[in-house]
Amino acid sequence: METVATSPLPVPRRAGLPILGNTLAFLYNPLKALRSLRQEYERIVHLQIGGRNQYLVFNPEDAKHILQENHRNYGRSPAFEVLRIFLGNGLLTSDGDFWRRQRRLAQPAFHRQKLAALAETMISETADWIDELQQLPPHKPINMSQAFMDVTMRIVCKTLFGSDTAGKLTGLSQALDTLNYMANRRLLSPIRVPMHWKTPSNNRFRQAGQLVDMFIYEVINARRKNPLTENEQRSDLLGMLLSAEDEETGERMSDKQLRDECVTLFSAGHETTAVSMAWTIYLLTQHPDILLRLQTEVQSVLGDSRVPPSDVFRALPYTLQVIQESLRLYPPAWIMSRLAHQNDHIGPYIIPAGSTALVSPYILHRNPASWSDPERFNPDRFAPGGEKDQAHAYAYVPFGGGPRLCIGNQFALMEMQILLAMLVRKFRFSQVSSQVINPKPLITLRPNRPIYAQFT
Ligand code: HEM
Repeated sequence: METVATSPLPVPRRAGLPILGNTLAFLYNPLKALRSLRQEYERIVHLQIGGRNQYLVFNPEDAKHILQENHRNYGRSPAFEVLRIFLGNGLLTSDGDFWRRQRRLAQPAFHRQKLAALAETMISETADWIDELQQLPPHKPINMSQAFMDVTMRIVCKTLFGSDTAGKLTGLSQALDTLNYMANRRLLSPIRVPMHWKTPSNNRFRQAGQLVDMFIYEVINARRKNPLTENEQRSDLLGMLLSAEDEETGERMSDKQLRDECVTLFSAGHETTAVSMAWTIYLLTQHPDILLRLQTEVQSVLGDSRVPPSDVFRALPYTLQVIQESLRLYPPAWIMSRLAHQNDHIGPYIIPAGSTALVSPYILHRNPASWSDPERFNPDRFAPGGEKDQAHAYAYVPFGGGPRLCIGNQFALMEMQILLAMLVRKFRFSQVSSQVINPKPLITLRPNRPIYAQFT
């Protein structure tokens, strides 16, 4: 039985007021708090945030231990309880055997070959979006944060439900967005009104939930009655999930499971990608030399053709490097939390059972022990044989790691490559104001003010 660590666990010297712990420093400026803790503590630090004991690790090897090697000791942290009200019991919020089965069923839909079918949808939605941008008055500053939210929402709805969204896309995406927004707001709010109270925002949540459920269940019913051909099934995610069969048991997903996975994929897949695209545009406006090199690659590969080739990964390597480097500096999922089931050892220290372990991609990605000049935007780090290849595998974890690695990582990279290539193919752009934009860590790592760009 282990009750004490062989070494005392480092606790910040300025531990704050006894009850508030480090909550204030974190509420005030979480990224600054994390960065100064990394400078002060080499390996791990014990924090009290919001009355909970939390243990943040700094080394890639320890991140690997928590996310991969000893992952069975860790479950979803209490934060996911809040998300469950909105997302149901899908891949993001579930745990244990149920999660394992769902992951087994959903994984094949995200295989590279299957994603190639979705690339067509991404390309045509992006082309429509670019046509709309071209209709705007020239030189009018465009709020890129909002523009990317719109297009990623359309892409995720279309890749999920295919042609069944015809005529319903706006209503559906607004309702899904309301669910997503309310989940985020509730997660960040210290005061949570019970969901059964008839407040205006609870009513809005109920209405949005009813609309989403009605749409999804109607589509599922129609497709169960008139099954699509194999080809049609392959052209959207819902079709792939509907036909997914557990290899061990032969079971398929129930209607409720399908509904929960669809809402989860929408929620996990839309804001993360949009935020990351906005950061990428911001970084490019700050680095005209890199933007020029990117445009040269896109121009030489696409020439006069309107759309990128279906194998964008291989055809546009520098475009991918730009995106990977943007995800290093501004990882949308800036912190990951896990609930420790049993005591765990991190070198001489113990993470006690019942406490929360924290891994921060933002901190790992800016660690000078892993990255030279870590604050600099340099896509060459991701060139073959570059710095990324030399670094520890867990020094770069924008999509997490271990068995709970983001299921949509290839989907997101492909979507971002398509969006970026088609955008720089059509437009020259520059930043509208010289104001420095800083990251604001909400559920995702958002820019602290909208990113505007001017297109010509
Ligand atoms: C730039 C875009 C994205 C980023 C940075 C990102 C990041 C992440 C991270 C870090 C995790 C792991 C969380 C943890 O371990 O606690 C995760 C999980 C997940 N992501 Fe993503 N994601 C992105 C895009 C997407 C897309 C496009 C989809 C779906 C279409 C998606 C679906 C999911 C799902 C379902 C999970 C839960 C997986 C599981 O636990 O089995 N993500 N994502």
